[in-house]
Amino acid sequence: MPHLIAILPGDGIGPEVTAEARRVLDALALDLAFEEAPVGGAAYDAAGHPLPDATLDLARRADAILFGAVGDPRHDGLARELRPEQAILGLRKQLGLFANLRPARLFAGLEDASALKPHIAAAIDMVIVRELTGDVYFGLKSRGTTADGLREGRDLMRYDEAEVARIARVGFETARTRRHRLCSVDKANVLDTSQLWRDVVIEVAADYPDVALSHMYVDNAAMQMVRDPGQFDVIVTGNLFGDILSDQASMCAGSIGMLPSAALDGQGKGLYEPIHGSAPDIAGQGRANPCATILSAAMLLRHSLGLSDAADRIEVAVAAAIAGGARTPDLGGTLSTREMADRVIEALA
Ligand code: NAD
Ligand code: IPM
Ligand code: MN
Repeated sequence: MPHLIAILPGDGIGPEVTAEARRVLDALALDLAFEEAPVGGAAYDAAGHPLPDATLDLARRADAILFGAVGDPRHDGLARELRPEQAILGLRKQLGLFANLRPARLFAGLEDASALKPHIAAAIDMVIVRELTGDVYFGLKSRGTTADGLREGRDLMRYDEAEVARIARVGFETARTRRHRLCSVDKANVLDTSQLWRDVVIEVAADYPDVALSHMYVDNAAMQMVRDPGQFDVIVTGNLFGDILSDQASMCAGSIGMLPSAALDGQGKGLYEPIHGSAPDIAGQGRANPCATILSAAMLLRHSLGLSDAADRIEVAVAAAIAGGARTPDLGGTLSTREMADRVIEALA
């Protein structure tokens, strides 16, 4: 039986970058079957809902999911539950994908694409482990009116100890596969949620005496990431802080078009997607960098299908293409989305 991969292209550049990742997977000639379904604004337009039952059903049936991006300015006026972004939030929640791995490394040759000085950027090799199904994203929300008649909005930031402990374990386990350093990022000087986070991370650390644990406030972490990003091995943090820090890490490493991610349930199921969004400003122009999605496909092979050698081959091919000067516009080059993928496929051979 071939492994079933659900492809959910989504909106904007999502279809462009998933098509190229699919071509890279095809070039490996593995035993894979693909099934595609609409998601996000595209699904709302076709079926009246950003995450139709048929799409969720495919995501449940599949061995792994390759996701493009969702979000369309034409849908920003819809009620929140119908907005494209609800599709990715719904998939994460419904499939229990609590652990988000966002590796950020500087590919040799991209030193000048980084927003940092080249010698500072060169040292970037970190994994941000972002909690993905809790925090202010999924706490109680409301829009209403105060006693004084002012409009107000609320989003509750909340974690329980089990949620923190399981993502902390993913952080420690990830550090064990790398340089054995884990930095937990929080805002424990102000937030009770963060004080719980810190207490629980320290408790879990007792099981990982071989990992050096440190703690950093998120504001300092944002500063340290541009001052000396090479200091980070693995970062573990909450949903909101991880979202923000990973976009920042991407530009330190050259471009948001380079960072892949894996959203894992801890039992092998995963959704793999670039960290970037639907990029409406460049959609349909063939200007999107497909590398983040191609590298997400590599993570899919490694984490959900156990095909580590094939995953390594893709990552080596991306590195070789970059080293050979392949550059989309975000990296200062002129290659189209398709041409960039062609260069990766050539490097596979
Ligand atoms: P974005 O990541 O889509 O784009 C930010 C900037 O980065 C834009 O200038 C864009 O052109 C550029 N960019 C992004 N990906 C690129 C790539 N592969 N190659 C070259 N340039 C790239 O973020 P945004 O503009 O804040 O959001 C646009 C929409 O995407 C919104 O609707 C947002 O909610 C959604 N979004 C979705 C996801 C997701 O599906 N997981 C993630 C982030 C944002
Ligand atoms: C991401 C995105 C999503 C998030 C949005 C689109 C819901 O920014 O995957 O980083 O905030 O998690
Ligand atoms: Mn984000």
